[in-house]
Amino acid sequence: MKISLVTTSGGPEVLRIAERPVPSLKPGQVLIRVHAAGVNRADVMMRAGQYGPSATGVEILGLEVAGTIEDPGDSTRWKKGDRACALLPRGGYAEYAAADGRHCLPVPENVSLEEAAGLPETVLTVWSNVFQRMHVRRGETLLIQGGTSGIGLTALQLARERGVRAFATAGSDEKCRFAEAWGAERCVNYKTEDFEEVLPPVDAILDYIGGDYTAKHLRMLNPDGRICWLAGLGGIKSTINIMEIMRKRLVLTGSMLSPRDDDFKAALTAEVEEQVWPLVSQGRLRAHIYRTFRLEDAAEAHRLMESGGHIGKIILTIK
Ligand SMILES: NC(=O)c1ccc[n+]([C@@H]2O[C@H](COP(=O)([O-])OP(=O)(O)OC[C@H]3O[C@@H](n4cnc5c(N)ncnc54)[C@H](OP(=O)(O)O)[C@@H]3O)[C@@H](O)[C@H]2O)c1
Repeated sequence: MKISLVTTSGGPEVLRIAERPVPSLKPGQVLIRVHAAGVNRADVMMRAGQYGPSATGVEILGLEVAGTIEDPGDSTRWKKGDRACALLPRGGYAEYAAADGRHCLPVPENVSLEEAAGLPETVLTVWSNVFQRMHVRRGETLLIQGGTSGIGLTALQLARERGVRAFATAGSDEKCRFAEAWGAERCVNYKTEDFEEVLPPVDAILDYIGGDYTAKHLRMLNPDGRICWLAGLGGIKSTINIMEIMRKRLVLTGSMLSPRDDDFKAALTAEVEEQVWPLVSQGRLRAHIYRTFRLEDAAEAHRLMESGGHIGKIILTIK
C-alpha cells in the first residue's frame, strides 16, 4: 500500500511516499480503506521531533482517518463497506489503516469522508476536556484561545449547542469574524488588543498557549473557575500567583489524548457517539475544511499548518 513515510525528524521535506504492506489486524481491530486523513498540529510536532518520542521510528503519521471498512476483523458491529471515521494511535497517512473497532464512529450519509476525517481528534479532545474534565455547563462562559484552529471551531460549536457563552482569540480580524460566525460571542485579535482588557471574566478557559497567558488567565477566571491546557505553544513554563488560586478556588488541569489507553479512548468514543454524534448527523457540528492535499503532497499540508494561515482543518486525500 502507498504511505507517506517519515523515518527521521526534520522539516516537511522528510515526508515522502513509500510502499509498505497492508497492516495485519490484531484482535479488536478493523481495517479501514482510507479515503481521507486529518492533519493535526501533533503530526507536525512529531515529524519535527518535538512531541513524545523522537520522530525517528515514527513511520506513518496520522491520528484520524475516514474511509470504508475493508476488513471488520472480529467485530460484531462493523461490516465491510461501512463508512467510518476513527481515532488512531498513528498510521493515518496511508491507503489502509488498522483501528481499534471501539475507536471508530459511523459517518452519516450527509457528511463527506473528507469532512469526517477532520472530526475524531477535535471532537474527542473537546468533549473530554471541556465537558468531562472542566464540567462546563449551560449558562457558563468559556474562553477558547486560538478560536479558528480545528480544536477551536469544534469547541465553539459545542459550546453554542450546549448553551455555553463562548469567547475566543485569533491572530487576525478575518479569523475573528470567522470565529464569531461559528459561535463566539466575541473574538479578540490578540495581535492588536489585550484580551484580558476587553473580555469579561469567564468560568473556564481552554488553552494551548500557556507561557505568559497563564497569569492573565488566572486573573480573568471567576470564582471556582477552571483552566485546561492542551499544549504550550507559547511556552510550557508559567509563573503563577497561588493566592489567586486559593482566593477563587481555581482548578488547573490539562490532558493529552494520544497517550491515553485504548479502554479510555473506547469509553470516550462511546460517550461522544451518544452525546455528540446526533449533532453531526443533523449538520449542527461540522469540520471546516480549509484545504485538502493529496497524500503525495503531505509536506505542503505541513507547511501550511506551520504557516498558521489556515482556519479549521487541513485534510489529506488518498486515491
Ligand atoms: N492535548 C491534547 O490531547 C490535544 C489534542 C488535540 C490538539 N491539541 C493541541 O491543540 C492545539 C490546536 O490543535 P489544532 O490541530 O487545531 O492546531 P492548529 O489548527 O494549528 O491551531 C493552532 C492555533 O493556535 C493559535 N495560536 C498560536 N499562537 C497563539 C497566541 N499567542 N494566542 C492565541 N492563539 C494562538 C493559532 O491561531 P492564530 O493563527 O489565530 O494565531 C491556531 O489557531 C495544538 O496546540 C495541538 O497540539 C492537544
